[in-house]
Amino acid sequence: MSNSKILVVGAGNMGAGIAQLCAQQGFEAVISDISLDLSENAKARIAKGLQKRVDGGKITAAERDAVLGRISAAGDLAPAAQCAFVIESVLEDIEIKRKVFAELDGIAPPETILATNTTSLSISAMAEATKRPDKVVQMHFFNPPTIMKLVEIMPGRKTSPETLQAVTEFAKKLGKDPVVCKNEAPAGIVSRVLGQLLNEATWLVASGVAEPADVDKAMKLGANHPMGPFELIDLIGLDVHRAKMQTLTRELKDPRYKHPDLLDKMIAEGRLGKKVGKGFYNY
Ligand SMILES: NC(=O)c1ccc[n+]([C@@H]2O[C@H](COP(=O)([O-])OP(=O)(O)OC[C@H]3O[C@@H](n4cnc5c(N)ncnc54)[C@H](O)[C@@H]3O)[C@@H](O)[C@H]2O)c1
Repeated sequence: MSNSKILVVGAGNMGAGIAQLCAQQGFEAVISDISLDLSENAKARIAKGLQKRVDGGKITAAERDAVLGRISAAGDLAPAAQCAFVIESVLEDIEIKRKVFAELDGIAPPETILATNTTSLSISAMAEATKRPDKVVQMHFFNPPTIMKLVEIMPGRKTSPETLQAVTEFAKKLGKDPVVCKNEAPAGIVSRVLGQLLNEATWLVASGVAEPADVDKAMKLGANHPMGPFELIDLIGLDVHRAKMQTLTRELKDPRYKHPDLLDKMIAEGRLGKKVGKGFYNY
């Protein structure tokens, strides 16, 4: 088993970015999705992004080749047998994630740490699918993982202090400045605080206090936020934001996370945000 080989499971938006980050920091990264095609596709996207950086004079062609040379693609989880760390970044669905963790547990050496990039699902629920709950931990990257400095680390109920320590050191080797939560709670720090801020903004509009553009202007000029809450919800997606608030309401059994009906109405009308050209704003 190599300390410098990392398996990233899930070749989507985040998985590809995490694999690229690992390779940029000198690790060997294997990307694995449900088919080899999807993983190779992710590598091609990374290559395209790196080429843009070469064209813009940000990196040399030799640096591009060195990073790409450290990334390989797989269509199954077999490479876990050679990795000290696995980072799971598949769809945000607890049943899919539990299946992936159970399979990884059967392949990876007993000392391998299994980390999840989940946004708000239970770390303990994933850990329970394995025989190594002490080595299961959250390692939550921000989008895009190559740029954003933060990694949030969160233990499950049975995660050991040694695992937390190892993951913190690993995050630092990836050039990140990690924050470690003391206990498990849905959505960690940034997602939970931001979710509630965005929720409060929707309540202001739903109760007729102000227009979205005025709330955005107020938060930018009055609180120095780089983006207004409605610009941010449109970017995240109204459906993704609502799903997070529903998880918080359900898991924490606290009505203060409830979203206004306005959000349901907009989602039913297809106003999902920037990705479909309309949300609180038209694009
Ligand atoms: N998008 C973000 O801004 C963001 C930020 C932080 C964390 N996250 C979390 O990262 C995870 C991935 O999010 P994303 O935005 O990259 O999603 P995505 O939809 O872009 O990618 C998910 C990938 O998982 C793959 N997949 C599904 N089942 C699989 C399986 N059994 N084995 C291997 N691969 C499988 C899919 O084929 C897809 O390529 C989620 O848990 C999400 O909550 C997302």
